[in-house]
Amino acid sequence: MLGLSALLPLLVVPFASAAPKSRATTCNGHAELCDRSYGNVTFMGSHDSFAYSDDPLALARDQEVDIPSQLDLGVRLLQAQSHMNGDDLHFCHTSCILFDGGKVVDYLTVVKTWLDSNTEEVLTLLFTNPEAVSLTDVWKPAFDDSGISDLVYVPPNLPMKQSDWPTLGDMIDSGKRVVVFMDADSDPSQVDFILPEFDMIWETPYGYTDDSFPCSIDRTSNAQSTADHMYMINHSLNLKIGDITISDPGEADTTNGVDSIVAAADKCVSYSEDNTYPSFVLLDFVNLGDAKAAVDKLNGF
Ligand SMILES: *[C@@H]1O[C@H](CO)[C@@H](O)[C@H](O)[C@H]1NC(C)=O
Ligand SMILES: *[C@@H]1O[C@H](CO)[C@@H](O)[C@H](O)[C@H]1NC(C)=O
Repeated sequence: MLGLSALLPLLVVPFASAAPKSRATTCNGHAELCDRSYGNVTFMGSHDSFAYSDDPLALARDQEVDIPSQLDLGVRLLQAQSHMNGDDLHFCHTSCILFDGGKVVDYLTVVKTWLDSNTEEVLTLLFTNPEAVSLTDVWKPAFDDSGISDLVYVPPNLPMKQSDWPTLGDMIDSGKRVVVFMDADSDPSQVDFILPEFDMIWETPYGYTDDSFPCSIDRTSNAQSTADHMYMINHSLNLKIGDITISDPGEADTTNGVDSIVAAADKCVSYSEDNTYPSFVLLDFVNLGDAKAAVDKLNGF
């Protein structure tokens, strides 16, 4: 027995490298999505994902449940706004005095832990960088220290067209199943996995107080045609009190319902210039309403 177990690694290793790769059988919960390009999937997104609190008096919150709970609900794009707090990069809402979501590295560590126990999931991270914080000195170390860098997809060319993206199955099989976008001051020549959002994604306006969610292209770059962009709808309904805009959890059941989300996506199809649904549906209070069902519907399920 001892002899055999000593021999086994020698026998197994050469065959293992020649054997066909194990294929993912379920991708983001559906076998059908394994063969679908990342650019042709609609993902549920969480706006200000770090700004969660179950305290109704925390007016700067945009979510009620924590990151693992959001992911368990079906969120596959996590959006967050960064600010320096002393020497550390934090996620904060407008300012760290208003809502401090803690260190970015700690947030990424939580996400990495979830990914380690959910191995057939592709996840997108969309971070804002309003203070133009250093990519090499601050952002990359946060990704590296959390262990998430190993999972991040680096595109072969930039900008990637919507139709250029690999399938979810390929991403899961290769282990590169996290896509990272930054709204401003990204520079792939410095950090190759932090991708310039608006070269590849256009967005509808943010801060709607109109519950009919009219569609229009608000932010984009001219890096490629609209048809070659993916796009994100900011599907949250804000309450305007004088000059102050806050998100309104009272409306979220309706806003995050199937009817409201599908209607908003339908309105945007003609703007896509290639007749496609949004890639990302960005929501407040992801635990309210029925967004997972809406996104499933947009994906054809
Ligand atoms: C739409 O939402 C995203 C994510 O919060 C944000 O980066 C963007 O600024 C919003 N759009 C506008 C026009 O504010
Ligand atoms: C995926 O492709 C189908 C067929 O062309 C289209 O109806 C759908 O809107 C696309 N979804 C996205 C997110 O591109």
